[in-house]
Amino acid sequence: MSEVKRYPVPDSFRQRALMDKTRYEEWYRASIEEPDTFWAARATEFLDWSRPWDKVSEWDFRTGDAAWFIGGELNASYNCIDRHLPTRADQTAIIWEGDEPDQSRHISYRELHEQVSKLANVLKQRGVKKGDRVCLYMPMIPEAAYAMLACARIGAVHSVVFGGFSPEALKDRIQDAEASAVITADEGVRGGRTVSLKANADKALAHCPSVHTCVTVRRTGGKVNWDEKRDVWYHEAVDAASADCPPEPMGAEDPLFILYTSGSTGKPKGVLHTTGGYLLCSAMTHKYVFDYQDGDIYWCTADVGWVTGHSYIVYGPLANGATTLMFEGVPTYPDASRCWQVVDKHKVNIFYTAPTAIRALMGLGDAPVTKTDRGSLRLLGTVGEPINPEAWEWYHRVVGEDRCPIVDTWWQTETGSIMIAPIPGATDTKPGSATLPFFGVQPALVDADGKALEGAASGNLVIKASWPSQIRTVYGDHQRMIDTYFSTYKGTYFTGDGARRDEDGYYWITGRVDDVLNISGHRLGTAEIESALVLHPAVAEAAVVGYPHDIKGQGVYAYVNLMAGHSGDEALATELRNFVATEIGAIAKPDLIQFAPGLPKTRSGKIMRRILRKIATNELDTLGDTSTLADPSVVDQLIDNRLNR
Ligand code: WTA
Repeated sequence: MSEVKRYPVPDSFRQRALMDKTRYEEWYRASIEEPDTFWAARATEFLDWSRPWDKVSEWDFRTGDAAWFIGGELNASYNCIDRHLPTRADQTAIIWEGDEPDQSRHISYRELHEQVSKLANVLKQRGVKKGDRVCLYMPMIPEAAYAMLACARIGAVHSVVFGGFSPEALKDRIQDAEASAVITADEGVRGGRTVSLKANADKALAHCPSVHTCVTVRRTGGKVNWDEKRDVWYHEAVDAASADCPPEPMGAEDPLFILYTSGSTGKPKGVLHTTGGYLLCSAMTHKYVFDYQDGDIYWCTADVGWVTGHSYIVYGPLANGATTLMFEGVPTYPDASRCWQVVDKHKVNIFYTAPTAIRALMGLGDAPVTKTDRGSLRLLGTVGEPINPEAWEWYHRVVGEDRCPIVDTWWQTETGSIMIAPIPGATDTKPGSATLPFFGVQPALVDADGKALEGAASGNLVIKASWPSQIRTVYGDHQRMIDTYFSTYKGTYFTGDGARRDEDGYYWITGRVDDVLNISGHRLGTAEIESALVLHPAVAEAAVVGYPHDIKGQGVYAYVNLMAGHSGDEALATELRNFVATEIGAIAKPDLIQFAPGLPKTRSGKIMRRILRKIATNELDTLGDTSTLADPSVVDQLIDNRLNR
């Protein structure tokens, strides 16, 4: 391996950082040796409780059961808004930057309180109660945050569905959660183009009898269809509603939200998070990993449809009384300079994005970056996929002008908050490494048999002990949670990721070891894309694997075996791509489709994905043994016609 570079904490950063190395080490030790004492102190410091807990934690990783702050009561909306009012009513809570550069708004904590309370009352009037599920299918507008917090205020459980998902995908998620209300917008706007959210929701809702109410925000004024009984205009209802809505006291273990995410098999799972532990960890990681200090302007570019948007646009920052920037658009619209122009316009101090965006911008050269000032930037972050050292170096040198530490943050929808990441005033960084565990997090590496690996090693990444924001269940299917996370390596939480630990104890996440793809930082199951493809009448069989992609991290490579009478031409490939977009969403479109008369199968009929992966990654000399295949000659066929050379 080539020499790994090490970046010490810059002096200028260290001098004003919240936490240094000594304190990180002390706290980390305390968090592992006396977890309940440690977390109780943090829960008191970070959150306001309307009733104290009786017991800090109770968990068992043989069963996956976990509960934190048992008996305690609090409300997430109160913690993110009301308690800040005495000191921060006029401070900006949310800076909204629209798709067009001339559109932006500042929303104060006072206004946030009013908007959230009114919307909460609208939901109540429409019969939404504590425990009911509300589906949000929203563009990146402040109303998305209002909607999440309004649900939290009355104890309804939100399920945000990414606005890029198709009506079909939306329908599945609404049905699975049996949501009673949906909040959407007439249209979303991204990169100068509109997305017909309400029309998509209408299509989904035709098959969702559980939904009695659909609240629609008027974002563009585009034409929409209306169902007088079910549909409510957001502005009309909110204008008429009272701004007085006392927050519902919630048990620490009452659900806060469900968020669907892809696994290696079957349909997406509804990951369920509860109130106390989730809010604590999102707030605490936001403070320490981003070194968030009063007055900082913080910008996370994620969409609220993903967990990053939940924890690091809405809950973590607002619980800390921060100013959080919410961006409706894309990094390349109107041009490749947009992010840095937004940084200059709003004097952003902390910027958090995905490696895929960094790689895309890096590909467009330094000029769009260097023509901006970026003097306000103090810290940079990444999340969602492994970052290649080259992109890390570019981000550090060109965007951060060597003065901003980079926090590469590893975590998952299921973990709720950041698990492995540098503490920027404490941890030297190495390009490509997520470095060291956050407080209370006990990562370990195991081999295929579950044997613990010590010292410098590579293996499967597991977590040995519970942390407050861990997944509590898969909505409606608790057994699936146990099977997915707590059965592979007994007594541990299995992440599905592989990792290497170096001689300094730093972790290097190498990517998924299961059939989950990471396309531009978006999680997709190969099984989902395969199921979509085989719904097409021309497709007999399909197998999907990932392959390295310069910008997206991974691309989707689909092998498709057609029904007799169909020919695999470019027109059909395009049709299949669009078909997948209709079934799931544009993010799942295969990049490469190879038509194949047969797929490599064992004699018992199981598709040998290992071989398909090797062909897709063009690693032909390590194909391995193909003699056990029912028909070894299909492999030569596949190799001859492979698309990624
Ligand atoms: C991957 C996103 C390497 C990983 C917060 C994980 C990463 C999956 C990193 C979770 C990182 C996330 N380095 N890989 N810093 N962060 N991943 O649920 O494979 O959308 O299992 O949560 O993204 O994706 P999810």
